[in-house]
Amino acid sequence: MKSVKESIKKDLKRFGIESSKNEECPICKYGRRITVTVNGIETSHCKYCDDKKLVQELNIATTESEKRLQTLRSKAKYFSRIPEDLKDVKLNDYVTESDEQTRAKQMAIGFITGFDKEKSFVMSGDPGIGKSHIAVAIAKALSNDYSVLFLKSADILGLIRDSYNGSSHTEQDVFDICQQVDLLVLDDIGAEYDKSSSDDESWASDILFRILDSRLGKSTVVTTNYSESQLENKFGMNGKRIVSRMQDTAEKIRIQGNDWRKK
Ligand SMILES: Nc1ncnc2c1ncn2[C@@H]1O[C@H](COP(=O)(O)OP(=O)(O)OP(=O)(O)O)[C@@H](O)[C@H]1O
Ligand SMILES: [Mg+2]
Ligand SMILES: [Zn+2]
Repeated sequence: MKSVKESIKKDLKRFGIESSKNEECPICKYGRRITVTVNGIETSHCKYCDDKKLVQELNIATTESEKRLQTLRSKAKYFSRIPEDLKDVKLNDYVTESDEQTRAKQMAIGFITGFDKEKSFVMSGDPGIGKSHIAVAIAKALSNDYSVLFLKSADILGLIRDSYNGSSHTEQDVFDICQQVDLLVLDDIGAEYDKSSSDDESWASDILFRILDSRLGKSTVVTTNYSESQLENKFGMNGKRIVSRMQDTAEKIRIQGNDWRKK
C-alpha cells in the first residue's frame, strides 16, 4: 500500500505542483513556511508573516507604542511641508562634484543608517547646492519607520501665525508636534523673516529658540545659507542660544559647490 505522503505527492503533481516543502519559517522562526514550485516558479508563504504584512498594509496598529507612532506619523504628515519641486528626490540622485558634497552625501547615509533619534545634522552653504535635496531625502528615508516632520523655518512661523487667525490648529499644537517627532527637519533657518520689521525678528527668534530648546536630546536636521556667526547676529538676543541648541549633538558640514539651479 502507498504511503499517505506518496499519494499526496501524486495528487500535487496532478495540479501542476512539482514540489513542496514545509519547514520552520526562517524569517519569523515561529510559523511554518510552505514552499511550492509550480511551472518552475517557487513561491513561499508563512501564514504568520503574511498576516503581519497584511496588518502593516492595512495600517492596523497592534501595540500601544505602534498606535502612538501611527498617530504621531499622521500628525507629522499633516503638518509637513515638503517643497513641491523636491517631492521625488532621493539621495541616489544627489550628484557629487566636490569633496564636501561627497562627504555630505556620506554623512547623510550615515545619519540614516545609524539613526538613533538623538544625533543631529547641520548643513550650511550657498543656495542651490542641494542642502534641501539631502534634507528631504533623509526625511523620506526615515518616515516609514519614524515620525518625521519637515518644515522650512518660515513654515513654522506661518503655521503659528495661522493659529492666531482661526486655523484648525492651535499654537500649542505646532510646538507639540515639533517637540514630539522622532526627527524634525528644519529647512532654511535664517531665511524666515524680513529684516525690515524688528518686532517680527524677536518674535521669530523666540519661537525658533523655543522649538530648538524643546528638542534638546532629540534628532534635528537643519539647513541654512548662513554661518554660525551670521545666524548668531541674525537672531539677536536669542542668537547664541539658538546656534548652541542647533548644534547640540550635531554633525556639521559646510557644503561648497555650484548652484544647481543655474545649470
Ligand atoms: N548635487 C546635486 N545633485 C542633484 N541635484 C541637485 C544637486 N544640488 C541641487 N540639486 C537640485 O537643484 C535644486 C535646488 O537644490 P536645493 O533646493 O536642495 O538647494 P539648497 O542648497 O537647499 O538651496 P537654498 O539654500 O537656496 O535653499 C533641486 O531641484 C535639487 O534637487
Ligand atoms: Mg534649501
Ligand atoms: Zn514566518
